[in-house]
Amino acid sequence: MCGIVGYVGNKTACPILLNGLHRLEYRGYDSAGVAIIGADNELKIYKCKGKVDELENFIADKDTEGTVGIAHTRWATHGAPNNINAHPHLSQSGQIAMIHNGIIENFRVLKEALDKEGFDFRSSTDSEVLVNLIEHIRNVNGCPLEDAVRVALKRAVGAYAIAIIEKGNPNRIIAAKQSSPMAIGLGEPGEYYLSSDAASIIEYTKDFVYINDGEMAVLEKGKPLQVFSLDNEPVAFSTARLDLSISQLEKGGYEHFMLKEINEQPKTIIDCTRGRISPETLEITLNGVANNIDRFLNARRIIFVACGTSWHAALIGEHLFEDICRIPVEVEYASEFRYRNPVIFPDDVVIAVSQSGETADTLAAIELARKSGAFVYGINNVIGSSIARATDSGTYIHVGPEIGVASTKAFTGQVTVMTMMALMIAKRKGTVSDEYYREVSAALLKLPELIEETLKLDGEIAEMAKIFTYARNFIYLGRGYNYPTALEGALKLKEISYVHAEGYPAAEMKHGAIALIDAEMPSVAIVTPDSTYEKTLSNVEEVKARGGKIISVMAKGDELVRRISDFTIEVPVTTECLMPIVVSVPLQLLAYHIAVNKGRNVDQPRNLAKSVTVE
Ligand code: M6R
Repeated sequence: MCGIVGYVGNKTACPILLNGLHRLEYRGYDSAGVAIIGADNELKIYKCKGKVDELENFIADKDTEGTVGIAHTRWATHGAPNNINAHPHLSQSGQIAMIHNGIIENFRVLKEALDKEGFDFRSSTDSEVLVNLIEHIRNVNGCPLEDAVRVALKRAVGAYAIAIIEKGNPNRIIAAKQSSPMAIGLGEPGEYYLSSDAASIIEYTKDFVYINDGEMAVLEKGKPLQVFSLDNEPVAFSTARLDLSISQLEKGGYEHFMLKEINEQPKTIIDCTRGRISPETLEITLNGVANNIDRFLNARRIIFVACGTSWHAALIGEHLFEDICRIPVEVEYASEFRYRNPVIFPDDVVIAVSQSGETADTLAAIELARKSGAFVYGINNVIGSSIARATDSGTYIHVGPEIGVASTKAFTGQVTVMTMMALMIAKRKGTVSDEYYREVSAALLKLPELIEETLKLDGEIAEMAKIFTYARNFIYLGRGYNYPTALEGALKLKEISYVHAEGYPAAEMKHGAIALIDAEMPSVAIVTPDSTYEKTLSNVEEVKARGGKIISVMAKGDELVRRISDFTIEVPVTTECLMPIVVSVPLQLLAYHIAVNKGRNVDQPRNLAKSVTVE
């Protein structure tokens, strides 16, 4: 994970770097640091454990003047989160400073070799090994720094996005990437920004160059951008424009990004369906699907690969594609799939689901699928992200930047896109009646209204959260389309409140987990009118009979469910396959309020990062 940012130009670098780091903190917040070269050509490095605010306090009275600099916010992989392991790392001679996002997998071997050459290491990071390898190559070959970087990177195995500055050279940043994201922002002619995420520097520029894996860039003040391959061949590059406004990156009056993002859902669903569902004809058009319709119609199977919340959305996708399209579906954790030697046929369609588009395991699963000749489709949020570029085609969910670590609006956007995809394919395949197609299509357009109505339950849910703030364990129950919703509800609670929660298929309870039930264990039961309604009701009765406390997420006014519930969250009803979208909203709010009551850092929960770019 980690976030990197850089600047070279005529402006004072430090405020730009700190601002960028704040916006990148979602990628990691164990430590932060900055390296700047001042007018005296000296290299100044400041770094400390903790968040960017702590770095800001630490450097408040320090000399941070200079117009070239690099900065880093860390999610620890190799080495504890402390001052020494914080980036930037300095080479042994103190000449070269480097920031790194990724993992150098063969760092032990490289370190052993450098040990023998007399290098001492201050930190326990893989990154310090790389900066010293660069220095060693430069010493031995007497070559320019960029040549040493190229040679060193050819020896490094793993993932990296690096930026390097050098004492005595206040005009230049050298950057390179392999499997970790990097965007180079173009300012005034000869002025450059660099970041792990273009959105983090959007107030300075909207024009970006995304360099590819195995490429290196030289950002030199007053000179044109140069991009090379690691074989020193010049590489042509293009500029992409990112239309994003600053307000999309700010809290907009909400206490937390997560709360803002939950409340944005009526609008994000509109953005997600805009121009894709005709309000007049209810016709659905997704270009990515339309342009590749034969791949879907001839698919032997659909295999979803995803992680975390995106994996939960994919489980709903499984229901949708099997139910509506009659295509066999498998849903895989990307991290398991890639190491399992899975059977993938050339006529399989692999759908990679990811909010960030940067999840390392999902990227690796895509690579595996491509090698087997399968058609790979992406469902992503971040435009121009690595996964969006690595897939054959795809559909963006268009829900805007999601900054809270806990995914909310991305989940509902992903399910919305999957529903549109399934309907479109089913119509061409003839596996759906015109009536059902139109019913679900119309229901998608009505969803924002229903979510708006559901959001009005916030006050009620906040009160309920007070009662359950100190429960030590929760169980979430659901069936059918809402079993994945139960998993997602439990994940939300775990990740932001640090309370143990398990999602369970309601009927499976009696095969073991029901033993956990007592008066101390609240069960959040999703009992909405659908094809498993009566069965779920019986499962909830079983829990109730054992003294469990029941919080039901249920259809507004359902007396039967009210009677067996201790607490109720009454939501409006839509067609069965869209109920997970409505139901997930109060579950997000419940988790949010419990976490706030417990004083947790809702947007940046401990040990987590928004974008998991390590394997
Ligand atoms: O960016 P992605 O959708 O690929 O991320 C996958 C997971 O890391 C992510 O969904 C994670 O589980 C969220 N923090 C859950 O809220």
